[in-house]
Amino acid sequence: METQVIPANEGLHLAAQFIRDGQLVAFPTETVYGLGANAEDAEACRRIYVAKGRPQDNPLIVHIVHRDVLSDLMRGTMNVQAERLLQEFWPGPLTVVVPSGGHISSVALGGLDTVAVRCPSHPVAQELLRLSGCPIAAPSANRSGRPSPTTAEDVYEDMKGRIPLILDGGPASVGVESTVVDLSREIPVLLRPGAVTLEQLEHFLGPVMLADDLTPVRSPGMKYRHYAPRSPVQWWDTDDVDQALARWHKLRMSGLGYGLLASERIGRALRPALFYNLGDNDGAAAQNLFTGLRKLDRDRPAAIIVVWKQGTPLGRAIANRLAKAAAPNSVGDANDQ
Ligand code: TXA
Ligand code: MG
Repeated sequence: METQVIPANEGLHLAAQFIRDGQLVAFPTETVYGLGANAEDAEACRRIYVAKGRPQDNPLIVHIVHRDVLSDLMRGTMNVQAERLLQEFWPGPLTVVVPSGGHISSVALGGLDTVAVRCPSHPVAQELLRLSGCPIAAPSANRSGRPSPTTAEDVYEDMKGRIPLILDGGPASVGVESTVVDLSREIPVLLRPGAVTLEQLEHFLGPVMLADDLTPVRSPGMKYRHYAPRSPVQWWDTDDVDQALARWHKLRMSGLGYGLLASERIGRALRPALFYNLGDNDGAAAQNLFTGLRKLDRDRPAAIIVVWKQGTPLGRAIANRLAKAAAPNSVGDANDQ
């Protein structure tokens, strides 16, 4: 299959036609690029799992054009707190898990009785939803287990020959996937940290539990290793130049080539042959994280060293992705997301 990459403003009508015809389209959102299909079309949703190599039990996020559409997809109603949360953060990088009650294909739901719904703010995603006239199921547009794509080029790297169309809308502004909060139980649970922070959720919802503290695993995607480039990743949780320099020197004694993903300040001190600038604040780090991992990985270093210190509320999302990228691959590639 030939994969076309078209600037978003030229390709939107074709993309909507593809979605209506049950084909896949990769498109930009404010978080990362999504791999979209008509969420009401089982065959189209099945194609997503095939193109990504994603396990069938891992459900997809359903994207909607406006907050009002949510009530058509869910059983029951939202409480006042949740309504206010959505008023504040939709459209935007927030996904809510609610009891499912609409026409969404069970293929997209991965066999669960809940549905994850998001209203994206990116103008291209908005326009695609409007022109298609249906909810769009869209996981991140990477091959399973790879870092999420934040540019059309990243999508092409993973999906070339597997999907017919990529809409190029430039780099994603947030850079990490949406916050996922489960509202289907008595106490809300943060399943995946993102740009909408735990503190912001709690401001509207009251106490929110962390999925990390729960067993068994609540979000199917959580049990798989994610975000991993081919080279192993090591995360050094520090912003101290001397400390990083000491560890770097020790590492260099092996004679192997390493890639460094860190702030310019750290980069200048360590002077690696292979470097990508993570930026000097957490907004920039979120934006650059996946792109940096992908870019460094292309040179196949012995390992990618990430030097970044967790501190701000947004840092929780970055730390979560880093910990997963750095985790030893105990599950195996076939089961990755
Ligand atoms: O920012 C994003 O959310 C991007 C863009 C494209 O919107 N999408 C995305 O989708 O990251 P994906 O499929 O890569 O991640 C969705 C996560 C998975 O971990 C999945 O297991 C979880 O959401 N999920 C989906 N439906 C769920 C449900 N009903 N209950 C619990 N977790 C669910
Ligand atoms: Mg994903």
